[in-house]
Amino acid sequence: MLSREQVQQLLQPIVEPVTGKSLIELQMIRDIVVKESRISLSVITLDKREDYAKALESDIRERLGDAEGAEIHIRMREANELEREKILGESARMRQEDEDKLVKGHAAGLEHNQLLQDPNVHFIAVASGKGGVGKSTVTVNLAAALARMGKRVGLIDADIYGFSVPDMMGIEEGPVVEDNTIIPVERFGVKVMSMGFFIRENNPVIWRGPMLGKMLHQFFSDVGWGQLDYMLLDLPPGTGDVALDVHQMLPQSKEIIVTTPHATAAFVAARAGAMALQTNHDILGVVENMAYYECSDCGKRDYVFGRGGGGQLAETLHTELLAQLPLGAPDNHVSEPDFSPSVYKADTPTGQIYSQLAASIVAKCEQ
Ligand SMILES: Nc1ncnc2c1ncn2[C@@H]1O[C@H](COP(=O)(O)OP(=O)(O)O)[C@@H](O)[C@H]1O
Ligand SMILES: [Mg+2]
Repeated sequence: MLSREQVQQLLQPIVEPVTGKSLIELQMIRDIVVKESRISLSVITLDKREDYAKALESDIRERLGDAEGAEIHIRMREANELEREKILGESARMRQEDEDKLVKGHAAGLEHNQLLQDPNVHFIAVASGKGGVGKSTVTVNLAAALARMGKRVGLIDADIYGFSVPDMMGIEEGPVVEDNTIIPVERFGVKVMSMGFFIRENNPVIWRGPMLGKMLHQFFSDVGWGQLDYMLLDLPPGTGDVALDVHQMLPQSKEIIVTTPHATAAFVAARAGAMALQTNHDILGVVENMAYYECSDCGKRDYVFGRGGGGQLAETLHTELLAQLPLGAPDNHVSEPDFSPSVYKADTPTGQIYSQLAASIVAKCEQ
């Protein structure tokens, strides 16, 4: 004969459809009595549908099996107002508890996270004062140039609202999951992780702040990066909460600040630099993007967005101007197998500037 506890155990997996929690845990299966060759119990339901009651009853019978020949007696009734309130309250409390555990788990995961603890990985965050200056372009091209040097490179698109890295690199596939680990997508020798992989059809992301933090934590803890030499982060523009969160999450990170040559752009970028310094991040230097336009016929340079902003910013931040990149999109063709809208090939003039930038970053980090 089954015991009362055995009956509870067998029925434990049955989920209450309104709350998604176990009927047993919500104490909605009551008065379980096992006596001689008879098992009786009562069930309280939140779901009014008659076919639900029928389905639930047959589920209970099935789980109890033939209960060693016992006769099974099930009473079923709808919850009254008071009971309904109590059950919903209890399930909300259980959900909150689950969520808290999850957050704590992530925090603990981070503390013990191998990637973040690995002293051989150089973390480099790429920041800017505002959007549109080419922060993502610089990040993906620096990553590709480091990979060309034979470095093992990861790239996290931490600009969660404005993710653009997958499109810029021409990545069409998403990451796969193996043994509960997300495997980053590899492109131009760079392992890439982006929120863009998880958002369908360009729906805008309207998550709350804490959710964003959790997402970023997962990019570190649940992703199989393997051994890396460099981890680049494309930060959100400006000095908002998410940018601050990333700074604090990576105390060991170094930073590159991207600006255009315009004086006001450089002024705004100084704020991003100030944030880096406040969170004790070393600034590796400044990259001036869209520095000039070079005429393809005569080679004459026009400083269409002004001149001197990058140098000025480097001076303000007591660091150096690492590179000046000209205006001009990469000359890629959609038909090529390694097409990407934003990655410059190694043998182009801009590609070579990125190779030099990568070499000076390596010299600074591995001295
Ligand atoms: N040097 C450049 N020459 C021409 N277009 C550029 C250059 N750098 C960036 N862009 C373009 O400018 C836009 C903004 O660049 P992006 O890297 O997305 O900036 P951010 O990440 O700072 O918002 C993109 O369309 C990008 O292709
Ligand atoms: Mg960007």
